[in-house]
Amino acid sequence: MTKVAVLGYGTVGSGVYEVIKKNRDVISGKLGEEIEVKYVLDLREFEGDPVQEVLVHDVDVIISDPEVAIVCETMGGEHPAYEFTKRALESGKSVCTSNKELVEKYGPEFLQIAKAHNCSYLFEASVGGGIPIIRPLRTSLAQEEILSITGILNGTTNYILTKMETEGLAFADVLARAQEKGYAEKNPDADVLGFDACRKIAILTSLAYGKKVDFADITTEGITSITDKDFAYAKKMGATIKLFAKSVKKSGKYYALVAPFVVFPENPLYAVKGVFNAILVNCNMGGETMYYGKGAGKLATASAVVADVLDCARHKGKHLDIKWEERKLEISPIDGAVRRFFVRTSSAEERIKEFFGEVEMISGVADGECGFVTEEMSEAAYREKAAKFGDILSMIRVD
Ligand code: HSE
Repeated sequence: MTKVAVLGYGTVGSGVYEVIKKNRDVISGKLGEEIEVKYVLDLREFEGDPVQEVLVHDVDVIISDPEVAIVCETMGGEHPAYEFTKRALESGKSVCTSNKELVEKYGPEFLQIAKAHNCSYLFEASVGGGIPIIRPLRTSLAQEEILSITGILNGTTNYILTKMETEGLAFADVLARAQEKGYAEKNPDADVLGFDACRKIAILTSLAYGKKVDFADITTEGITSITDKDFAYAKKMGATIKLFAKSVKKSGKYYALVAPFVVFPENPLYAVKGVFNAILVNCNMGGETMYYGKGAGKLATASAVVADVLDCARHKGKHLDIKWEERKLEISPIDGAVRRFFVRTSSAEERIKEFFGEVEMISGVADGECGFVTEEMSEAAYREKAAKFGDILSMIRVD
């Protein structure tokens, strides 16, 4: 029997407790032993909930109990999750977490501590909720050179964009409805400005190349300026608009970007609708693989935490190595990245072609304006032409 403690009885923590209880037989059947939640740490009381029997309010009870082999950190936030994680690892207890802020900021430090104390720090649930993506990157794709990762890594924004597309609604109206239904936070900035997706692609890129990617080095644009008109143009092109979190390795350089993209049906990410997430990984030998599922939610995220618990239980007394150095991965400015650009303007075709050369015109979508798609050019070249051209109503990159 392996005994675990759960830190935080919120959405994910209560999910971990539920998954371990409900799937007890499935888990013991596959693992060959039972997993038991010995403690749940929370400051609150949960009268009438069976969790009350294992509830503790003092983390020292958990840290000082040699029977506890694995700690699930599902508290979220930086403090005291940082201190509790560090203490657990220093006591030789493996930590499984869903806390992406902590993973992105302190991943390499925790991995070193875990290595020094013969235990593990696993974080499958920190990116893509219930989608297995960290484990494939560190095991199934370990032999591959990763050429690119493109993710729809935020359910809230994918839900908003899907509703804008299918119902022809404005961003603010869909956001308000999403907030009413609990699909978007009261303060939606981290989601709609792209920061949540940015942290997640920073973690995936760090794992792909074994060095630390600082999320502040990633150019990040959210979806707040996407309008129903943009979707009308996308529809005319036979495309849609998605918030992509991307990292690319090209000619020895690394690029990363979070931004809305015009996406065509040939891209498998085109079909990812609503709150679902997906990650497309392109490798130099095996080509493309895609990972799809629920990127958030109680049981999906908890299930990923419990997958890590099983991994730790199978490797008790051993360190599961994840290569992620403190050394920074140099992210090149996006200036050199080459792609096409979809632009809306009130200028006439003649003037557009004078500045941008051969373009694909998209007319008849809205009064007093037109759209066009440029040929491939670098971000720097686009910026320079756009600055001289001046009359740009909106620009969305084309995938
Ligand atoms: N706010 C996040 C999302 C939750 O919408 O995807 C999961 O990290």
